[in-house]
Amino acid sequence: MKIAVILGTRPEITKMAPLIKIYQQNQADFFILHTGQHYTYQMDKVFFEQLELPQPKYNIDVGSSSHAEQTGKMLIGIEKILLEEKPAVVLVEGDTNSVLAGALAAAKLGIKVGHLEAGLRSYDRGMPEEINRVLADHLSDLLFAPTSKAKQILLGEGIDEKKVFITGNTIVDTIFQTLELARSGKDVISDLNIKPGRYFLVTLHRQENVDNAVRFGSILEGLGKIAVRHKLPVIYPIHPRSRKQMSLFGLQSDNLTIVEPLDFLGFLQLESQARLILTDSGGVQEESCILGVPCVTLRDNTERPETLEVGSNVLAGASAKRITESVDIMLKKKDKWANPFGDGRAAARIVKIITEEVNG
Ligand code: UD1
Ligand code: UDP
Repeated sequence: MKIAVILGTRPEITKMAPLIKIYQQNQADFFILHTGQHYTYQMDKVFFEQLELPQPKYNIDVGSSSHAEQTGKMLIGIEKILLEEKPAVVLVEGDTNSVLAGALAAAKLGIKVGHLEAGLRSYDRGMPEEINRVLADHLSDLLFAPTSKAKQILLGEGIDEKKVFITGNTIVDTIFQTLELARSGKDVISDLNIKPGRYFLVTLHRQENVDNAVRFGSILEGLGKIAVRHKLPVIYPIHPRSRKQMSLFGLQSDNLTIVEPLDFLGFLQLESQARLILTDSGGVQEESCILGVPCVTLRDNTERPETLEVGSNVLAGASAKRITESVDIMLKKKDKWANPFGDGRAAARIVKIITEEVNG
């Protein structure tokens, strides 16, 4: 049984990593197809190096462009490779354009599609990710839901229960496998001249935030205010999209420490020791919850409601006032929460299910 792992962006690499490692250890017949959606060293290759992953067999180098152009180029490139390689199953993870293109190209060729992180919904069709994840789920033959809530969402949309498996999220596997290494590795905290537990960590890159000058400006204002109010440094490893938009809009970043995107182990070290994390990232909402660090989400909704339910996360939107209020609330949190995303064995479960379901 030949398996194609299709990925294209930083979060897909971190979440596919434990699965790829199992296939590598088992000497399974598999290959990695990289779409090239992310291509800068700090957004791409550094993750392969640090997570000790094999190089992709193919990289179709689509690079950056509009949604339709990027997705279209991916479809053309992926189809050619799938026709040649004839895998029995294509695996995709998450909600990016690479996921949509991989699932669509495979489904049209009659190749089975497995979707990791199925069943997440923000119910906000203004997000490109929501469109991608709904379509990917409905194109898939095997849907790996991280939680029972995600499974219920899929059943509610009429997806056959036989196709849906609750597995946990593979990001828990990745964190369990790398946290020690991240903590004992290069001392990013000292390099930044900050102290454990005495800084805020920010990530912000979502299209609906950073491509909107008013929202982006208002969030930066809120971040500046919390730095002054709590007398703590605010570290913002900036995504290339956000860097570009900030300079396009001429926005200022008073009181923030803006740094280049960090490698995975360095970022994990910063996450695990932060006083509080502010983010609009899907993955970072999960990681903060798993690591026991309070989170304020800079969005009006989330497809990770489990984090709100366990109390690790609150939604603050883009208003400077709500951001400062939300930080005050989360800093008072004393009790710890249970991790709702699984036990760190999601990848092994997924591999077993694929073998059973595809081999019959
Ligand atoms: C994409 C995903 C988003 C995910 C994010 C992870 C879609 C629709 N969006 O958003 O869901 O959360 O990846 O980080 O699939 N750029 C670089 N170097 C790179 C990649 C991008 O400089 O390696 C810059 C380019 O200017 C590009 C911009 O970032 O135009 C946006 O990149 P793109 O891949 O289109 O979307 P992301 O914002 O990265
Ligand atoms: N990440 C990283 N360096 C950074 C910011 C994020 O290694 O400077 C990692 C983070 O730990 C997580 C993944 O990138 O595993 C999340 O990617 P991102 O926030 O870009 O995408 P999303 O999860 O929102 O799709």
